[in-house]
Amino acid sequence: MKYTLSNLALICSLVYSFPSFSANISPSVSDFALLDHQGKFHQLSYFGDQQAVVILAQSSMAPYTQAQIRAFQGLTERFVDQDVVFYLLNGTGEGDRGTLVKAAKSQGISLPILMDETQLVTAGLGLSHIGQIVLINPRGRHVTFRGTIDQLPEVEAALVAMTSQQTGQPRPVPDTQHKPSGPAITFADPGQATYGADIVPILKTHCVTCHRDGGIAPWAMSSHTMVQGWSAMMREVLLTRRMPPGQTDPHVGKEIEDAAGLSTAELQTLVHWIDRGAPADAGQTDPLTQLTFSTARFSLGEPDMTFKVPAQEIPATGVIDYRYIPVELNLDKDVWVRAMEFVPGDRQVLHHVIAYVSSPADKSVRGRETGAARGESVGGFAPGRQPDEFRDNSGRLLTKGSNLLLQMHYTTSGKATVDETEIGLYLYDEPPAYVMSGGVAGQRRFLVPPHAKEYRLQGEQLIERDAYLYEMNPHMHFRGKYMNYTAEYPDGTREILLSVPKYNFNWQFNYRLKEPLFLPAGTRLIAKGAMDNSAQNPSNPDPSKPVHFGLQTKHEMFFGFTTLRYVGDTPQRISRANAKTHSASSGR
Ligand code: HEC
Repeated sequence: MKYTLSNLALICSLVYSFPSFSANISPSVSDFALLDHQGKFHQLSYFGDQQAVVILAQSSMAPYTQAQIRAFQGLTERFVDQDVVFYLLNGTGEGDRGTLVKAAKSQGISLPILMDETQLVTAGLGLSHIGQIVLINPRGRHVTFRGTIDQLPEVEAALVAMTSQQTGQPRPVPDTQHKPSGPAITFADPGQATYGADIVPILKTHCVTCHRDGGIAPWAMSSHTMVQGWSAMMREVLLTRRMPPGQTDPHVGKEIEDAAGLSTAELQTLVHWIDRGAPADAGQTDPLTQLTFSTARFSLGEPDMTFKVPAQEIPATGVIDYRYIPVELNLDKDVWVRAMEFVPGDRQVLHHVIAYVSSPADKSVRGRETGAARGESVGGFAPGRQPDEFRDNSGRLLTKGSNLLLQMHYTTSGKATVDETEIGLYLYDEPPAYVMSGGVAGQRRFLVPPHAKEYRLQGEQLIERDAYLYEMNPHMHFRGKYMNYTAEYPDGTREILLSVPKYNFNWQFNYRLKEPLFLPAGTRLIAKGAMDNSAQNPSNPDPSKPVHFGLQTKHEMFFGFTTLRYVGDTPQRISRANAKTHSASSGR
């Protein structure tokens, strides 16, 4: 069954509060985030520094005349010097990016087309027909004007009113009634999902690993009452794609193991259930209260070697710089690592760890730090990140005498604490068949200007010998905005491997390919991304300062870490090569 707008009245009344159409109070809209047809991330609340956001409901099938599109784009041109953002919004549920890209090209569309596969944003904005236009004041996030593409002069007048104020708030514009001009948008059936049968399985798959008693999230989905109490907040983090964290662009790239993110259907089910008041099932045992979790300290079992990271005192408040903490391994022989797991001492404050190897040749602190500056990591910890476990009978070598240098990032939690993190190493008894290596496509020389909203960076890793790619781990600091990886093969073809459209420095996910990817010698791995040094980036400590590469939190990094296995890299070969380097460096 398909639904049209009349059936959506209930949903709309919840997402979009109509405060009786008076001239001054305008309906507010919930924050949302969507990817556009090119895979770029857009979030309404990001535009709090703009005067207006203009959205036109679009469909790649709609019988637009070229003239209408030209007229709308003409409108955008008249406001280029103003703080106005223009979007097309595809809420038809078409969802096929290829079709949209083609249609945009043939219709001469240069504006971003927001793809609303779930139709939740479209319904929330009260859009029922193709060709409708809605004007939003992004500061208070309320609708100031509604019209259609046939009423562009009125739209323009409303925009002029919103932008013409010299100072302060734009003048409110009366919310006008409008007659829809285009075809009605057909909405998916919101359904009647039940808590036990439909909702709990979604939460179990996507949320409960972190949102459980003793988990890393600040609240536990331990009962229906908890979930219902948090449901408004859940709705917001779902619509802004903040949760689950670490989402990738599902339309591009290679398949990722345990990829974060709900399917379109799951999102619709969950949000529609929330909009119905998040009802429980009458007279049933609450399945969330029945879940049990392993309490083992190390999830991979007893490690072969454990190391205690020196205790770190964490104050109650303030910003803590990255700490670079050496950990002596006291290895009296070379060892082959099969897996590495970090057990944080205090999950409330430990944000992430990146473990760099420092070779015996690096004696000084500076020498140790250069390993970090080069970006050679062997593993790490971040909330939600799986322990590093090397597959396919492969491992990483830690040579006798080498140590770890940990980049540890702490945040304060309001109470002083001491973190005593532990590292478990899992070793092979015999050298494994293959050797895993770490690589990086990074940029180390850059200066991001103050207030820059999208300062692009690019790094490259040349694959000199045939290799298999296993993992990708984008790493930036507070200003990281997005990062993607592309492979450029020796025959000139290129392919996107991964796109993280909204980077969040809180999460340092290691994206593991479902199938290792063969990269012939000569392939270039290119990491492209951007920094947001503006005040619109809520994580930005100081938008007025330029920022350059550096090891401290206040500096920036642009590393596209990779985990690869070079064909022909056997333990024997690596040991021989290491022995050579070692004798060369100790002879210096
Ligand atoms: C990988 C771990 C992880 C997963 C998976 C996860 N969360 Fe969270 N969640 C967190 C952490 C940590 C926080 C607190 C820090 C933050 O907001 O980023 C949080 C915060 C939240 C908050 C509170 C936001 C606030 O501003 O107070 C909500 C609501 C939430 N999560 C809902 C969900 C929902 C719904 C899912 C599943 C669809 C989910 N989370 C999946 C770890 C997770």
